[in-house]
Amino acid sequence: MKRQNFDERVALVTGGAQGIGLAVVRRLAKAGAKLAIADVNMTGTQKAAEEFSTESMSVKPFHMDVTDPDSVQSTVGSILRDFGRIDILVNNAGIVGRTAPIQDQSAEDWSRIIATDLTGVFFCCKAVVPHMVEQAYGRIVNISSIAGKEGNPNMVPYCTAKAGVIGLTKALAKEVARSNVMVNAVTPALIDTPMVQDIAPDQVDYLTERIPVGRLGRAEEVAAMVLWLASEEVSFSTGAVFDVSGGRASY
Ligand code: NAI
Repeated sequence: MKRQNFDERVALVTGGAQGIGLAVVRRLAKAGAKLAIADVNMTGTQKAAEEFSTESMSVKPFHMDVTDPDSVQSTVGSILRDFGRIDILVNNAGIVGRTAPIQDQSAEDWSRIIATDLTGVFFCCKAVVPHMVEQAYGRIVNISSIAGKEGNPNMVPYCTAKAGVIGLTKALAKEVARSNVMVNAVTPALIDTPMVQDIAPDQVDYLTERIPVGRLGRAEEVAAMVLWLASEEVSFSTGAVFDVSGGRASY
């Protein structure tokens, strides 16, 4: 039976200390999943784990840097030891980087954003996919961005990384489709999280003006979509891109 009941399911959410990741952790924990939150921000991660660890909810914090393959591999090993399995991987950790035209983006700006937002997704999938294939079950949800579909000026590294996440999603989905591992991407428009503070105010205005519903999205609105994509109900959608963009996406 297909279900949106996550009892016995184990989920790894990267960047779950705040913002969209934290909203996803909240929804999955309340739906009955056991959670591993992996983030570089241990203060936020521990706080979230304490908030959601009750008699009926199991949430554990892990320090993991998605840009470091050794950190990813050893954290995935610890989660498998502690929980016995990983059914759901939400690749959410990300940074937006500087708002600047291409000539003012340094090689370091480019490398840091690509390493976190794109290579980090590759490292996490690489570490978790063999386990999912072996158990013949997995749901991977990659948090891309409308920036990767439509492009935004002054955000070349970020838009490139997020477009790369869409390509990775489509390629990996085809590799593992016969193992009951579904791989999908979500493309939010501007969402009201701490990340917005890292974007220049005039750029925030530009991005908000392009959202037809006329406001920023909420982390909970993205989490609702992620919850569905992480569920058993998603059994015939893979390699697909799901918008949460207040109408901004035009295709
Ligand atoms: P946020 O800045 O509130 O949270 C990001 C989390 O990722 C933080 O907890 C941070 O510590 C963690 N993180 C950063 N680098 C990391 C690393 N190397 N290893 C592990 N964890 C790391 O951001 P927000 O807004 O919640 O974004 C979450 C995801 O959604 C990101 O991938 C972002 O690009 C994407 N997104 C956000 C949108 C927005 O408008 N807020 C719109 C579209 C996509």
